[in-house]
Amino acid sequence: MASPLNLILLGPPGAGKGTQAERLREDFPIQCLSTGQILRAAVADGTELGKQAKQHMDAGGLVPDELVNGVVLERLTSMEDGFLLDGFPRNRAQAEALEQALADHDRKVTAALLIEVPEEELVKRISGRRMCKEGHTYHVDTDPPKHADRCDVDGLPLFQRDDDEEGVVRERLRTYERETSPLVDFYDDRGLLRRFDGTRSPTEVHDHLRAAVATLRLEDEL
Ligand code: AP5
Repeated sequence: MASPLNLILLGPPGAGKGTQAERLREDFPIQCLSTGQILRAAVADGTELGKQAKQHMDAGGLVPDELVNGVVLERLTSMEDGFLLDGFPRNRAQAEALEQALADHDRKVTAALLIEVPEEELVKRISGRRMCKEGHTYHVDTDPPKHADRCDVDGLPLFQRDDDEEGVVRERLRTYERETSPLVDFYDDRGLLRRFDGTRSPTEVHDHLRAAVATLRLEDEL
């Protein structure tokens, strides 16, 4: 029997990680976990995690590892059928903590799927993004909802994220370069990195990702 796929989606803010995670979830029996979504829900619910996370999110920085690792690693170890991570790990310390937590359960990362998009395109995408509170994502120009300001999936109102203001977006991009982009080499050195051209349409990016994940499953079965 095939072993579970333990996948990471890597890429800068606005690369399309959330968009693609949602599509891949429909293709494969895999649980998706988005740290951004978990943290936004915690902020909206006013939990202790949300209160501590908000100032870092609003400033475009990372929420401290000790807060995020606890939330993620505990859930992952119970996802025995595999997982797709969107937004974690975000720096070397998180990547090492993930490696250790998986090794403790005789598991490892199957692949890191990197979606690459140049910076100016990212800013355009993020400024046009709209989403519902369940995380379904649209773009006012390239992927509009069927009915203005309503989610196609659940009819919930669409809104713009607090951290999608241009100044915060630029800071999130700097944080990505400084903290997260070193993970490209981290996973490349381990032979786990797969690169995808994120400037293509969402459907083309999805086709390429789906084919790569299907190949990983086949390789595992052989
Ligand atoms: P998070 O929610 O993870 O934000 P992010 O990584 O900045 O990514 P985004 O959600 O902005 O973009 P995306 O790549 O998912 O793009 P999307 O699919 O929406 O994190 C938010 C904050 O939480 C962080 O800044 C940090 O403070 C904190 N945090 C989260 N995880 C953390 C961690 N592990 N440690 C510490 N702190 C953490 O697409 C963007 C737009 O483009 C959409 O409008 C979409 O419709 C459109 N689009 C998508 N694909 C395409 C395409 N191919 N062509 C044209 N348009 C497209």
